[in-house]
Amino acid sequence: MRHPEEVHVVVVGSTNFDLVVKADRLPQEGETMLVKNLQFFPGGKGANQAVGVARMGARTSFIGAVGNDVLGGFLMQGLQSSGIDTAWVKRDSERATGCAYIMVFPNGNNCIAVDPAANHALPPDDIENARELIERADALMTVLEIPMDVVEAALRLGRKAGKLTVLDAGPPRHCPPEVLKLADIVSPNETELAYLTGEEISGRVSAQEAAKKLLGDGVKTVVLKLGSDGSMLVTPRGSRHFRAYKVVPVDPTAAGDAFTSAITVQLAMGASLDEAIRFANLAGALATTKLGAQPSLPSRAEVESFAAEAVQRN
Ligand code: RIB
Repeated sequence: MRHPEEVHVVVVGSTNFDLVVKADRLPQEGETMLVKNLQFFPGGKGANQAVGVARMGARTSFIGAVGNDVLGGFLMQGLQSSGIDTAWVKRDSERATGCAYIMVFPNGNNCIAVDPAANHALPPDDIENARELIERADALMTVLEIPMDVVEAALRLGRKAGKLTVLDAGPPRHCPPEVLKLADIVSPNETELAYLTGEEISGRVSAQEAAKKLLGDGVKTVVLKLGSDGSMLVTPRGSRHFRAYKVVPVDPTAAGDAFTSAITVQLAMGASLDEAIRFANLAGALATTKLGAQPSLPSRAEVESFAAEAVQRN
């Protein structure tokens, strides 16, 4: 296995300013409902995954776009303080920085509404301009929170350069099979899988069947995130379930991002798919124990000590 610091991952994705409140329930249409504990966090699926990769100890470059405003500056600073190379982040003067409005409920679930704003200012040409960077890296990750032509350009370039390509299929959105096929690993949660396949999903069996539909479209490896039920690997050679690790959940925001970052770094280091998924399950579980997106992403040391505890408990 390679050391994490020998691995270089390029993340092409979104970055958002997250406004998080605690709410007892979802408001109804037309209702004004009181919530509490407003807090601000750096977020966005792409930026979260870049921070997740950096906390796993790998060298990280982020390609994305923020507004030329105070929030964009705040998000850039956050990425830089995590040691992430932000030379390829565009500052757009026409649009505001992306924002996400997040409600966290007493049962530990959440719901998120996103205005992507400047995240849509990233043109596919910026990916082509970063060709040399991608060719020097080990892995390329991307998400569906940016324009589809950018997702496609990134995966196409990563694939052509022979890199490990990983698509975190969030947020829920249709993605054409010809784009999905460019990723070595496609990793949706159940809601995202429903959008990708048009299937209704409730539980492991229907999720597995829907994932097989993606295989039918030419995807080679699907890694399903099943939340508190762990995860599932679905390939043409068969399916395997991986159990979740028990934690007291506070906020699930960015748990999926922690999972995808961890799996990518472990695979780039030379771990097997099974090993990488077990490690990613630990990272995902730990991310649910803290409020907020980027502050909740665990370091490699935290995942390793949680793994040691989990072994002792079982
Ligand atoms: O995956 C969690 C992220 O989704 C949040 O940080 C929010 O910005 C949305 O993009």
